[in-house]
Amino acid sequence: MNDAPAASAPVIPAAYFGERVTWVHHWTDRLFSFRCTRDTAFRFRAGEFAMIGLMVNGKPLVRAYSVASPTWDEELEFLSIKVQDGPLTSRLQHVQVGDTVLIGKKPTGTLVTDNLLPGRTLWLLATGTGLAPYLSLAREPDVYERYEKVVVAHTVRQVAELAHRELFERDLPAHEFLGEMVAGKLLYYPSVTREPFRTQGRITDLIQSGRIFADLGLPALDPAHDRVMLCGSEAMNRDCKALLEGRGFVEGSNNAPGTYVVEKAFVTK
Ligand code: A2P
Repeated sequence: MNDAPAASAPVIPAAYFGERVTWVHHWTDRLFSFRCTRDTAFRFRAGEFAMIGLMVNGKPLVRAYSVASPTWDEELEFLSIKVQDGPLTSRLQHVQVGDTVLIGKKPTGTLVTDNLLPGRTLWLLATGTGLAPYLSLAREPDVYERYEKVVVAHTVRQVAELAHRELFERDLPAHEFLGEMVAGKLLYYPSVTREPFRTQGRITDLIQSGRIFADLGLPALDPAHDRVMLCGSEAMNRDCKALLEGRGFVEGSNNAPGTYVVEKAFVTK
């Protein structure tokens, strides 16, 4: 028996929901996912991010995280890097089922289909944890109503960092409700840069060489019919932006939809 009085639950500041962790999965020593309960008042658009974190010394310690679960999911899911000396992720990587996490009440962001003009193919380009918003968008029925094809291109250093590979390759096509909708529409294109893999190289190189288009059987990127979302490191976003703008793409925003949108894969510490 432990006779110590139960620690009083920390008071959750009004800007946050306090949610209970329901699942944790460690992909590698640099990458993990977790799920938590979702307040019925928490509404978001697929592709948006919220401030997520923990109470530390009586104060909220939070970072921007894209919601990785679809809008229809009862729970919320997030994908995070682990940095041993990162103020938040050094702690967050140890969360366990039953722990409380903070979920900011005001999700926002630019990686939403409303910020793009109508088009034929939606290209979702990510490096690392930049995959997170696409995990939400790729499970959103509305996305398949808007586009004929949806490509998820994920580049990582090592094969083990291809988080949720089975979701794209196995689970989604077999999914009870989404399976029929994604069949023939959703194309998953993983690539790896620092290990042997069937597709090696950075997304920028795969676009410039034309290999991705040949592999997928799609025409090269053209603002007349393609729409692109970018979510990766600062360097990846910068290089992809230059590449797209060189091909005539125009950045969209909440005020004016365009032919591409971009957001940083936020959490780096
Ligand atoms: P590389 O291994 O050639 O650096 P990180 O884990 O550092 O965030 O990187 C994730 C992936 O993004 C890696 O495969 C990395 O390739 C790739 N990457 C890094 N910089 C760029 C860039 N400027 N353009 C495209 N991909 C990039």
